[in-house]
Amino acid sequence: MSIQFDAQTKTFRLETLKTSYVMGISEYGHLLHLYFGKKIGNDDIRVLFAGKIKTGFCPVPNGCDKKYSLNTLPQEFSSDGVGDFRYPSITVVNSDGSYAFEGKYEGHRIYKGKYRLDGLPSLFANENEKADSIEIDLKDSVTGVCVTLYYGVFEEKNIITRAVTVKNEGSLPVSLRRIMSFSLDFRRSGFDFIHFYGHAYLERLTERQHVTHAACEISSAKGIPGHEHNPSVILCDSDATEDFGECYGAALLYTGNFLCGAKLDQFNQTRFVMGINPEKFEFILGCKDKFTAPEAVLSYSSEGFAVMTHQFHDIFRENACKSKYMKQRRPVLVNNWEATRFDFNGDKIVDIAIEGKKLGADLFVLDDGWFGKRNSDSAGLGDWTVNREKMGGELSDVIKRVNDAGLMFGLWFEPEMINEDSDLYRNHPDWVLKIPGRNPALCRNQLVLDITRPDVREYLIKSINDILDNNNIEYVKWDFNRYLTDVYSLLADSRHQGEVFHRFVLGFYNLLDSIILTHPDILFEGCSGGGGRFDGAMLCYQPQIWCSDQTDAVWRTKIQYGTSFAYPVSSMGAHVSACPNKKTGRTVSFKTRAAVAMSGTFGYELDTTKMTDQEKEECAHYTELFKKYYDIITFGDYYRLTSPFSNSGYCAWEHVSKDKSECLVTVVTLEALPQEHTAYIKPKGLDENAIYIIEGADIKLTGKTMMNAGIPFNMFIGQYESRQYYIKKI
Ligand code: GLA
Repeated sequence: MSIQFDAQTKTFRLETLKTSYVMGISEYGHLLHLYFGKKIGNDDIRVLFAGKIKTGFCPVPNGCDKKYSLNTLPQEFSSDGVGDFRYPSITVVNSDGSYAFEGKYEGHRIYKGKYRLDGLPSLFANENEKADSIEIDLKDSVTGVCVTLYYGVFEEKNIITRAVTVKNEGSLPVSLRRIMSFSLDFRRSGFDFIHFYGHAYLERLTERQHVTHAACEISSAKGIPGHEHNPSVILCDSDATEDFGECYGAALLYTGNFLCGAKLDQFNQTRFVMGINPEKFEFILGCKDKFTAPEAVLSYSSEGFAVMTHQFHDIFRENACKSKYMKQRRPVLVNNWEATRFDFNGDKIVDIAIEGKKLGADLFVLDDGWFGKRNSDSAGLGDWTVNREKMGGELSDVIKRVNDAGLMFGLWFEPEMINEDSDLYRNHPDWVLKIPGRNPALCRNQLVLDITRPDVREYLIKSINDILDNNNIEYVKWDFNRYLTDVYSLLADSRHQGEVFHRFVLGFYNLLDSIILTHPDILFEGCSGGGGRFDGAMLCYQPQIWCSDQTDAVWRTKIQYGTSFAYPVSSMGAHVSACPNKKTGRTVSFKTRAAVAMSGTFGYELDTTKMTDQEKEECAHYTELFKKYYDIITFGDYYRLTSPFSNSGYCAWEHVSKDKSECLVTVVTLEALPQEHTAYIKPKGLDENAIYIIEGADIKLTGKTMMNAGIPFNMFIGQYESRQYYIKKI
């Protein structure tokens, strides 16, 4: 068992191969956080915490000794209103109006297997995989509010998950105003906070700041995680690098409003929290009601970011999504969006597909515009019936022609949205999120359906499943093209409007359960104006997510770099698009566009009917290369060799097969670099003593020589050019 409770010392130990996580019940019943980090001995480490900090102005709970303060001791789940002034893990407004929660240990359960959560996605253990769980109950004896902390331990993957439920075991209703999925206390400073910020067309750029007494905080109040911040962060030693230093990666499995923060307290101790954003959040818990907070995944490494990343990638690849496409090869697709936008008909679609086949594509995706009266973004959303006039007949006829050309067929949906100019809105104006007496804000001419309502979900499930069940559709792109405003549900009374944001997320997961899980043979790809909904929860349903609407290869090196810290390469939707790029006007060679898209799911997003034969041949060559390297890219270990944000003038990354027998190194020049310079690119993760050759070059070296001396890269190849080195053990 990877989880132990020592009744003598009242400590809990959670152990993975490389990590220890220790908690202890204090003499007064509070659950203290004793340690999380590199594996330690099985000692009684309470001695390390014997010296308490002097508690000037730090309250002492009634009945406790004078040096005992919740404000200074490391808490496992911090209380609120009773003496800890740092980030609370929970805020409860009790029936008498008081703001207080003080959880004391009540009991625990340790069991084999991974816990699951009601209504929310969570990681699972595979057959024959060792995973254990523990639930620890903390109860407020005055109000009866009971918090249960959940921990899942994936021993071999070095991953610990956390989640929380809150149950009202009192006799009067309480209002839950804040709930964090985890809180981690460190009795030290010296951390940096790394997060991934941006906007639509430029998601998950990397920012690193020192954790000080002023909070480092990121959040979303947009209803989805959004483009501006991502619910994956790293707390690390200030000198941590790819290969050095302690780092604590955290990813929240939640597709709604989130908050993550790290801050030093007055004694230079660090508290790190993550959970649902308390802004505009309130959940009323009647007697016996239970609230479930989302799961957080913690990946700890004592050896820098690369190991943390590999652990994240392995768990998201193997323990999040049950789609057959997690193991089975995924098709290379060609999508018509950048080629046609709304301006197409059935024949044009079939032509793009037929020419796409010449590029080596296996799947054609018909993007937005095939339904209702959808000829621009101002009409049709919500009307999930085929526009036969535009398609020149039945959808099934177009699909047949695409299938006859040798391609699978995929279709675009944006289920949670509605245009005012749609039959759905004309029939059900009350089905949208809007505040009585206000005109709701529009974004891309659309409103958001109130999917907290069962009748709205029923309509969506029926109309979408009808299309999926009556046509040979093998792929779905599920989009979401605006944030939530005017959040108010006609279904809820005024006391419960603070629940709507979260209920929207629950409604969304219910839609995914009823549409995605009922179609196990369809490959689903998530999307939200590119990567506005790129989070671990989505990866529990969809093997891949469109990374960004920014298809400029140079910007993509930065977007994919940031995305890679937590999320696997196999999840990053990446396509070759036409040049000059529609968003930046930049021209980049096919070779570089392909090299960058290969570090993702690979596909095409261009008008194949407008390409020359030579261009098609070139594309077919890159598709073939991608297919050749598919296993290393999709299932191998990913290394960031240099940062695209550095001033070296180039960036490099690498995919290494798990058995270290082969790897693919890609280098892209970000500037035109002078002739006299040769850069030495140092691959990582090779077998030190094995001999490797670089395909197409007369270089044969031991792994340790290659990794330490590097392989020469002639930088005089021009700006935005690239080289790929396929290295194989002999
Ligand atoms: C979003 C997506 C695009 C495309 C359009 C269609 O912006 O990110 O890829 O599907 O919607 O409207």
